[in-house]
Amino acid sequence: MARRPMVAGNWKMYKTAEEGVILVQDLEPLVSRLWNEVEIVVCPPYTALKSVSTVIELDRLALALGAQDVHWETEGAFTGAVAPRMLVDLLCDYVIVGHSERREHFGDTDVTVNKKAHAVFAAGMVPIVCVGESLETREAEETESFVRTQVRAAIEGIAAEHASKLVIAYEPIWAIGTGRTPTPESANDVARTIRATVGATFDQSAAMSIRVLYGGSVNPENAGRFFAEPDIDGALVGGASLEAESFAAIAEAAL
Ligand code: PGA
Repeated sequence: MARRPMVAGNWKMYKTAEEGVILVQDLEPLVSRLWNEVEIVVCPPYTALKSVSTVIELDRLALALGAQDVHWETEGAFTGAVAPRMLVDLLCDYVIVGHSERREHFGDTDVTVNKKAHAVFAAGMVPIVCVGESLETREAEETESFVRTQVRAAIEGIAAEHASKLVIAYEPIWAIGTGRTPTPESANDVARTIRATVGATFDQSAAMSIRVLYGGSVNPENAGRFFAEPDIDGALVGGASLEAESFAAIAEAAL
């Protein structure tokens, strides 16, 4: 079964609303011809979602929209938080959940990541679930078991009909924003483990349908080598997604 590659840009805490609009307007003409083959997603900060969403709709840009996080409750007294249906209202298709920066700085755990994944599906969107090991875990040669545990926890109790839509990003923490990466072969080994874990939890069809992304210091020079691996279906890109040319070049490499 052919999986449509995805290249998603995680803007993190960069870009005002106005800067975000300029970025997507610069980006889209460079990538629009890829759309049938490659799904290109931008994930601005909350404050830029409305403006970016509006320009995507009005200008009919061939881009999908994602948020960087969400709360798992449908509404309530949660100062500073944003509920899934607020993101649906802004026409978000995807939500990144469990990014290592959320786990490290904002207390996300395997349990809250699972709650968020449920809430995102319940609202009709798709989570981009992030997993990945620290350098310490890698050096202890415990990467595969660590990632397997994270994936199992994240997808626990997810409905079978949603499972095949999952997007899971393998992002080794030590590769994020550092310029260091695993070899494409070793990233593929972990991607295969992720797929097998989904297969063991659901079935083989789900395992073959989910998209597994690699993330961590992806750039126009190295992207193609990751995309050539059989179990890697695209990338979650941080730094290189903040500039139209570099992000477009990565998307191009996914063709
Ligand atoms: P990076 O970030 O591409 O800047 O390494 C990736 C991410 O955190 O998703």
